[in-house]
Amino acid sequence: MKIDWSHLRAAAADVAGRAYAPYSQLRVGAAGLTGDGRVVTGCNVENASFGLTLCAECGLVSALHASRPAGQAGSAEPALVAVAVVAGDGAALLPCGRCRQLLLEAGGPGLLVDTARGPVPLGELLPAAFDNADLSARREPG
Ligand code: THU
Repeated sequence: MKIDWSHLRAAAADVAGRAYAPYSQLRVGAAGLTGDGRVVTGCNVENASFGLTLCAECGLVSALHASRPAGQAGSAEPALVAVAVVAGDGAALLPCGRCRQLLLEAGGPGLLVDTARGPVPLGELLPAAFDNADLSARREPG
């Protein structure tokens, strides 16, 4: 599938302009391309209770699910195939650790994440990750 990185970066920069970041002054926008060609976005939303801040990628993953056609509601597929995250200056920003884990469930280790040195697979940014296979394999019988 052809990935239009310029379009994704522009969508991320646009949504960064909608961020609510009065405390950190760091606006962040995230844009993702799904396997069925949809572009979904999210921006960071801060709160006076700082620990409640939502990263841009949280909004993106919520939008991924919220915008699924009815027949795919609640499904993990189609997954994300490419993601661009930028700060308010328009340059690539690496996802924080929690968001790497969120993106893993939404796109798997092959999800391409834009970086200052170009797109890299998420598996490089989050090696040896915990995932749902660990749950299945290690859960104890109740
Ligand atoms: N932030 C994100 O939106 N995504 C990340 O991956 C890193 C951090 C936001 C959260 C907070 O609003 C601001 O950046 C400063 O941490």
